[in-house]
Amino acid sequence: MIKKHYLLLFVSLLLVSCHTQKIGIDEMDLSSMEIGRGAIQVGKSTSGNPLTVGGKVFQKGIGTRAISKYLIRLDGKAVNFSAKVGIDDSSRGRGGAKFYILGDKKILWESMVMHKGDTAVDINVPIKKIMKLAMYVAEDGGTPYADWIEPSITYHGDVPVPLAFKIDSSYILTPPVANAPRINGPRVTGATPGRPFLFRVPVTGKPPIDVSLTNLPAGLNWDPESKVISGTAPAKGEYVVKITAKNEVGSAEKDLKIITGKGLALTPPLGWNSWNCWGLSVDQEKVKASADAMVSSGLADHGWTNINIDDGWEAPERKPDGELLANNKFPDMKALGDYIHNYGLKLGIYSSPGPKTCGGFLASYQHELQDVKTWEKWGVDYLKYDWCSYRTIEPKPDLNARKKPYILMRKMLDKSKRDVVYSLCQYGAGDVWRWGADIGGNLWRTTGDITDTWRSLSTIGFAQDTISPFAGPGHWNDPDMLIVGKVGWGPQLHASRLTPDEQFTHISLWSLLAAPMLIGCDMSQMDAFTLSLLTNDEVLEVNQDPLGKQAVPVKKDTGFQIWSRPLEDGSLAVGIFSTASASTVEAINWGEKSTTNKIRVDWSLLGISGTHKVRDLWRQKDLGDLADGFEAEVPYHGVVLIKIFK
Ligand code: GLA
Repeated sequence: MIKKHYLLLFVSLLLVSCHTQKIGIDEMDLSSMEIGRGAIQVGKSTSGNPLTVGGKVFQKGIGTRAISKYLIRLDGKAVNFSAKVGIDDSSRGRGGAKFYILGDKKILWESMVMHKGDTAVDINVPIKKIMKLAMYVAEDGGTPYADWIEPSITYHGDVPVPLAFKIDSSYILTPPVANAPRINGPRVTGATPGRPFLFRVPVTGKPPIDVSLTNLPAGLNWDPESKVISGTAPAKGEYVVKITAKNEVGSAEKDLKIITGKGLALTPPLGWNSWNCWGLSVDQEKVKASADAMVSSGLADHGWTNINIDDGWEAPERKPDGELLANNKFPDMKALGDYIHNYGLKLGIYSSPGPKTCGGFLASYQHELQDVKTWEKWGVDYLKYDWCSYRTIEPKPDLNARKKPYILMRKMLDKSKRDVVYSLCQYGAGDVWRWGADIGGNLWRTTGDITDTWRSLSTIGFAQDTISPFAGPGHWNDPDMLIVGKVGWGPQLHASRLTPDEQFTHISLWSLLAAPMLIGCDMSQMDAFTLSLLTNDEVLEVNQDPLGKQAVPVKKDTGFQIWSRPLEDGSLAVGIFSTASASTVEAINWGEKSTTNKIRVDWSLLGISGTHKVRDLWRQKDLGDLADGFEAEVPYHGVVLIKIFK
């Protein structure tokens, strides 16, 4: 009897272990799937149309766009991967792409270069013993819509799961905030005489910290509790305010120069914008939560200041008198402005010169002054002015027509009783860097929209070199907003698809470029790594250096680039970047720490000689007095950021 039981148990165990199961990849959590641009679609092409390849429509599958990657964890007991692949018929352009299946750092299967119109190709790949499986669409002359039709895995053991790259604290380089007081933020700030002035003094250290000011010009008040200077900007001039911060551990001093009558944004704006996280789903609560998080996370104590609402706040119709209202997601803009200002932070808003914004909301065409006056009531300190739908007014704009709406809005902003930082957003058209400052812009986008891929980051960031001379205090090249942390451009967020090293490259490069930095993630969901990237005071000091000189590359070579920027104190900030273009296998982030390359910087390359003190800015560590040059160990797609003293 007992024997019979054992036999039954044995047979059923055997049956269970041999029982092959099948999972559709489209049933899995796809939030870690990388897509070149746009959003992954299940059961549809990324264009939103039915999945259609070579004229044939398919019901099941995943619509993505090159470059696309997805990593799956297996347990070595999976059997087979199968799918059909092809370029969707709704894809625009003629560009091609290649599909790959990789397993444990080997190519298991690859397609020919596929184009729109090609018949879908069958994949059937044995995946026995594989632990990490990657589905990869590489570009080949384009970034077309790429479809995985009925992709599935058959397996015996554990259910396949997405392998999302976990960034733990071992990647953090920024040292913990010291107990001794440190006064952070810009060393210079601009304002217009007679207009409202607001400046939060960013200080870190062990609380309680006693912060006091001397030489504060008349008209300005200091609140040591909130650490906010407010009041009315004094007459044209330069005022040096001495800030002292003391706690039980020590004390710190710093001069803040308030320059009135010489423009705004004398250092690049540092803040947050709603677009890269919330897209059009932004609402009042999300904006309030962002202001709360900027303060509670400590970001405000490192100099982050702006809370900017991007597209999606506007009501569907103006009032009969033409006044623009906020939509019902923003019940009280004035109260929201006050809420932000109470922290000593600043409020930003978005509009466009045409009748509609890029998101299809109402924009400012023929209501420019009225809108400026509305924003004045709400307490707006910053305007991002997009180009969208102006083409309906000027279908073939020449240079003057390109400038016209921006000049008009500048004139209207000058009629505001408030200081408004003016951000032009027309993606670099008409070489905006050549005229952006002349028409009174404080910053101007230099490219199309960024997204959280290495391709987007590196093509935008490393292409900013020739326009470097056009940046300076009060007028900055803007290579678009940050893509670290949880981003998503809509209600669903995902962790940035950049590797930790790519994220170091991002913040280092934007600091060297003297680029405006607007955080694009949900600040209320930041992990320790993201926070560490945004709170390294020595890196931020490079970004905020009052000289305002944008870095230039001193060497661009295969696989690496060296960029250098002079700082006000006579030192140089130098970024040594590994830009190696990836082999197919290396293009996949296998979830392991990157290998490093040795890259040497000879002082002669930087126009200096002799021995210089060198400091690693991310680690905030002196590397010694080095003669002739420095050899850095640079991780793949990463950076070593140093300061070379005079
Ligand atoms: C454009 C801009 C983005 C964002 C959206 C809003 O695409 O470049 O940064 O402002 O419009 O619709």
